[in-house]
Amino acid sequence: MSREQLEQQGAARTLRATTPTWVFGAKGVLAGELLRLLDLHPTLELRGAVSRSEQSVDSAHPHLQTGASTCSADEARAAIGAALRAGERPAVFLALPHGESCAAWSALRAELGALAEQLYLVDLAADYRLVDPARYRRAYGHAHPDADELPRFTYGLVEFHRAAIASARRVAAPGCFATALQLASVPAARGKLLDATRPWIFHGITGSSGSGAEPKPGTHHPWRHGNMWAYSFGGHRHEAELEQALEPAFGTHSGTPPLHFVAHSGPFARGIHLTCALPLAHKLKAEEVRSHYVAAFDGSPFVSVLELGRAPDLRSVAGSNRALVGLDVRGDVLTVLVTLDNMVKGGAGQALQCLNLMLGLPETAGLPRAGLGVC
Ligand SMILES: NC(=O)c1ccc[n+]([C@@H]2O[C@H](COP(=O)([O-])OP(=O)(O)OC[C@H]3O[C@@H](n4cnc5c(N)ncnc54)[C@H](OP(=O)(O)O)[C@@H]3O)[C@@H](O)[C@H]2O)c1
Repeated sequence: MSREQLEQQGAARTLRATTPTWVFGAKGVLAGELLRLLDLHPTLELRGAVSRSEQSVDSAHPHLQTGASTCSADEARAAIGAALRAGERPAVFLALPHGESCAAWSALRAELGALAEQLYLVDLAADYRLVDPARYRRAYGHAHPDADELPRFTYGLVEFHRAAIASARRVAAPGCFATALQLASVPAARGKLLDATRPWIFHGITGSSGSGAEPKPGTHHPWRHGNMWAYSFGGHRHEAELEQALEPAFGTHSGTPPLHFVAHSGPFARGIHLTCALPLAHKLKAEEVRSHYVAAFDGSPFVSVLELGRAPDLRSVAGSNRALVGLDVRGDVLTVLVTLDNMVKGGAGQALQCLNLMLGLPETAGLPRAGLGVC
């Protein structure tokens, strides 16, 4: 057999090699989105949709056709252990409420022992995003219940941590607003384009899917439809993630700029629209800032920096793993606009983008770049 044939055979084997995958929190919004994306993925094989309920996956998510039943967390832990002992390399997504990921990961570690080190784990909740336990306490109002694990997780914003994610076994995927906040401001911060003594102002609007699958007063259609309101305007938890991301550009925590983020609930289901007013450190033309952002996102297939004069919209990104960035400069203020789908680039898609890299796959595998256009 020629070398070429051998290489082709090897490539085919790599493509066929599947990764058994478990999704915890099966009935949730992001789990539903993950299961939709897994359906299109070339190598991930859904082995378990983990739920507290026995309702089938397709009845909880009628847009899916997985044919899968759900399993309990106990069953999942036993099956993951068996897969590891059989030499497979399983992957787990935790799409659980804040605090529950910590409990689920602790239980998995207790069950798997040393084998837990071989697991590929992506947490979609906020449990392991903040490395510093003191920052976690400030943001969430209580001590971290599993603080020793914090430094063992890699922060999953691929556009800024690609190499670290590629060699990680445990990733904490960023929050949806936090993703938009960082895509908007980290390139300018790293390039020293911004004044850290004046406030950096961010206004974000999110769709109702950001509130999860469980109906709540703020997601009830007659209230949400045609309505809009601000929330957490005394300070949003995702500011802590931005603060953590900006620290390397500014040295210490005390050196980070005053961040002022106000979140709003908008009358749509999917998407985040972020508007930022960032003080420039020195005089710059919009073309210069745009060139800087284009260079910062060079090699990032899911971030598009728009031509000057173009504003990003939600329909172009809904259903896709793409984020759009629009820029303008007026006087000494840089305006940055970002849109993304909170369920995909801000949630399930981003988590899958991380796992792709962790498994040595192209980061784009199974992820849509085109938006729905009409939704
Ligand atoms: N929605 C977004 O846009 C978004 C974006 C980025 C990150 N996140 C984060 O990702 C995680 C999942 O978000 P989501 O919107 O998918 O949440 P969700 O719709 O509320 O789903 C979470 C699922 O976790 C399971 N669960 C297990 N223990 C639970 C408990 N004690 N209480 C309630 N549910 C429990 C439930 O599934 P079973 O009934 O099947 O057990 C539930 O459906 C959250 O931590 C969220 O903050 C969400």
